[in-house]
Amino acid sequence: MKGIVLAGGSGTRLYPLTHAISKQLLPVYNKPMVYYPLSVLMLGGIRDILVISSPEQLPMFHELLGDGRRLGLSLSYAEQPQPDGIAQALVIGADHIGTDPVTLVLGDNVFHGPGFSRLLRSRLPHVDGALLFGCSVSDPQRYGVGEVAADGRLLSIEEKPAQPRSNLALTGLYAYTNDVIDIAKNLRPSARGELEISDVNRAYLDQGRAQLVNLGRGFAWLDTGTHDSLLQAAHYVQVEEQRQGVRIACLEEIAYRMGFITAEQCQELASRLRHTSYGRYLHDIMNEERTSSD
Ligand code: TTP
Repeated sequence: MKGIVLAGGSGTRLYPLTHAISKQLLPVYNKPMVYYPLSVLMLGGIRDILVISSPEQLPMFHELLGDGRRLGLSLSYAEQPQPDGIAQALVIGADHIGTDPVTLVLGDNVFHGPGFSRLLRSRLPHVDGALLFGCSVSDPQRYGVGEVAADGRLLSIEEKPAQPRSNLALTGLYAYTNDVIDIAKNLRPSARGELEISDVNRAYLDQGRAQLVNLGRGFAWLDTGTHDSLLQAAHYVQVEEQRQGVRIACLEEIAYRMGFITAEQCQELASRLRHTSYGRYLHDIMNEERTSSD
C-alpha cells in the first residue's frame, strides 16, 4: 500500500494567513498541520508516501519532512502546478503508486478518535475498490454525504445536498485498489474545472465496489479550512493533549510504536529536541517504555 498526502490548494478562505505560506504548514496548536494527515498514513502502516503540493510550497514541505528516513519512512515529493482537483493527485502520483493500492489523505484533515489506528490497520490491507470514511456532522449540507448499507456498502453519494439522506460526511481519507489510476486518468474536469474525487468514488459506486466506514460517535474529524475551524482544531488538540498527557500526531512516537524505528533511534530524535516540551514528551515516553520492559 502506497500513501499520498495532498497538500496543495489555494487556501483562499484563510487569506491573508495563506498568502505567502501553504495552509498545511500552518500550526495546529503545536505541530504543522501536515503532521496530522501524515500520522494517519503512518498509523495505517504505510511507509512509502508521496507529498504533493504547489511548485512554490513544495520545497518547504521537503525542508520540514526531508526524505523521511529519520522516521523510518520513504518520503518523495511531486508538484501540482495548479489546484486542478483532488483526483489529480492520483494522476500525478501514478508512478509512485506503481502496481500497489493507495491511500490518499488531504493535507488539511485532522482525525482523532478511539480505535482509529486499529481500524486503519484492519481495513486498509483489504481494500477492494474504494474504501471511504464517513463522520457524523451537524451540517451535512456543507459536505459530500454518503449513505451506507448495513453491510458497509456505499449506497449513494450526494454533493452538498439540500435534503441529505444521512448525516455522514465523507472525510478526506480515501483508499483504492490500483485501478484507481485508470479511473483518475479518464476523468473529465467538472463544471468548476477540477478533477473531482467524487467522480472517482462514483465510478466505484456504479460498479458496486465502494465501502463506507462510519467512524462512529465520539470520533473527531476536524476541518481546518477557515479561521474559526483552524482555531477550534488547535483548541481541540490542546485540550486532548493536556487532559490525557498524550500527544496527537507526534510522528516520532508513532514511528517508534509502529516499529518503523528502534527505541535508540527514537531516543536520539528526542534528545535533539530536548529543550522543547515536544522533546521532553518523547524522552518521557521512551523512559516509561524502558522501565516497563525492565
Ligand atoms: P479545499 O478545502 O477544497 O481547498 P483549499 O485548501 O484550496 O482552500 P480554499 O477553499 O480556502 O481555497 O481543499 C481541500 C484539501 O485538498 C486541502 O488540503 C488542499 C488540497 N487540495 C489540493 O492540494 N489540490 C487541489 O487541487 C485541491 C482542490 C485541493
